[in-house]
Amino acid sequence: MKLGRNDRCWCGSGKKYKVCHERFDSILDFHKANGSVVPSRKIIKNETQIQGIRESAKINIAVLDYVTEHIKSGITTAEIDKWVYEQTTAMGGIPAPLNYEGFPKSVCTSINDVVCHGIPSKNAVLKDGDIINVDVSTILKGYFSDSSRMFCIGSVSLEKKRLVNIAKQSLEVGLKKVKPWRHLGDMGQAINDFVKANGYSVVREIGGHGIGLAFHEDPWVSYVSRQGEEMLMVPGMMFTIEPMINMGSHRININQTDGWTVTTKDGLSSAQWEIQVLVTEDGYEIIAY
Ligand code: MF3
Ligand code: CO
Repeated sequence: MKLGRNDRCWCGSGKKYKVCHERFDSILDFHKANGSVVPSRKIIKNETQIQGIRESAKINIAVLDYVTEHIKSGITTAEIDKWVYEQTTAMGGIPAPLNYEGFPKSVCTSINDVVCHGIPSKNAVLKDGDIINVDVSTILKGYFSDSSRMFCIGSVSLEKKRLVNIAKQSLEVGLKKVKPWRHLGDMGQAINDFVKANGYSVVREIGGHGIGLAFHEDPWVSYVSRQGEEMLMVPGMMFTIEPMINMGSHRININQTDGWTVTTKDGLSSAQWEIQVLVTEDGYEIIAY
């Protein structure tokens, strides 16, 4: 069924197709004909949805700000989990990780050699010299947000501080490549090249994801991809940039007992920051950081 120019647009904006996504569709068709992987319509957000996601992200950011202010040596990751649950629900949100595919807590807390998906525990006490990723995700009125930060506890070695900084800088490097009608691989390659040039490695099996109307949507986002490859970035698409950077080898293990905790194979540290971005008409907008 072909949409008439005066019909309502498929994106749900309520506007006529000719003033909404008609031009978008013709550019998309051009790239598709040239062999690009293009996004499906269901992951393209309209203005109402974007506004809802921004509101969700406000909570996500506020929760991370709360963690930033309170995290310190001597607390347990179970306490961080309690903060996240209480702060999120006090602002009317729901922590997205809680019961997500059986995840038992409200937040992921990943210390030192834990790459990601660390489960908060009353037995995990933060100590001087630790580095930790706190990964917060929020649902508000059905809209999803997701971002994470690293924290250095007390006096951290120069080695580990550098890892944390390079992981953060790799996001900025990736962000510069977020442009409509370019490929996700442009970003993936830029991040991987930057990380390698600094002597570290990027985890291959776990990456970022589309987000907004669900916790994890298409596309899956790799940071070891190649320029010009992977899905086309288009206005209205939203995804996370969250490369996991290892000090040593990229190889990882997944804990077979809890089914979640990902660690480095060599026991060296890993760092990760995560931002949620929207592709706009001329670049990007940061939704959550
Ligand atoms: N915030 C993580 C991500 O980036 C969430 C992983 S799923 C969870 O996708 F259940 F562990 F929260
Ligand atoms: Co994520």
